[in-house]
Amino acid sequence: MSTQPPTSPNVVWHHATVTRARREAQNGHRGAIIWFTGLSGSGKSTLAHAVEEILHQQGCRTFVLDGDNVRHGLCGDLGFSSKDREENIRRIGEMAKLFMEAGVIVLTAFISPYRVDRERVRGMVEHGDFIEIFCDAPIEVCEARDVKGMYKKARAGLIPEFTGISSPYEVPKNPELTVNTGGLELEACVQQVLDEMVQRGLINSI
Ligand code: ADX
Repeated sequence: MSTQPPTSPNVVWHHATVTRARREAQNGHRGAIIWFTGLSGSGKSTLAHAVEEILHQQGCRTFVLDGDNVRHGLCGDLGFSSKDREENIRRIGEMAKLFMEAGVIVLTAFISPYRVDRERVRGMVEHGDFIEIFCDAPIEVCEARDVKGMYKKARAGLIPEFTGISSPYEVPKNPELTVNTGGLELEACVQQVLDEMVQRGLINSI
């Protein structure tokens, strides 16, 4: 499935003989993109890593792409304007797709505040490959946690365009799953994600 046409007309797609299907057969499970979205401090990374831990223990091939980490490398040139966030999510989407084609269950933890950007990634892959999980924690809860001290700084006007304060967050309209990360214990959230994955045939029951 094509994503974005190349700028140069002189690049030609090369088809691999080791296909996604063969990689998945070797791994014993499908590749997929588990896309966590939510406010900063809503628990996306914590949940993604906790789910990954269980999947890894079960012998699944997994990888977590995390907002703060990716912004140190691949997306280190990007800020937080809507344009830069769009480009951030575009690059992550392309990268997640590559991981998925390698047969990996990739778990992404980015605020990804704009619906249109998330839907663009969904549209890049086959139906059923993109599982959107809304980490539902109200801003009051995220702000009270303030794990990185960023809300305090944002309220003081020290961080411009901060999601939920001076920049929007668009709640998903039809996510595959909403997890009440603002109210439930981590274990319960993890279980909900695993149950959803089992139900969708991505993994065997755990
Ligand atoms: S996204 O909006 O482009 O999806 P991303 O998930 O990569 O954001 O990065 C979010 C992380 O960057 C937050 O967890 C926070 O630690 C940090 N951050 C720094 N500045 C901002 C800002 N203006 N808005 C939101 N998060 C910010």
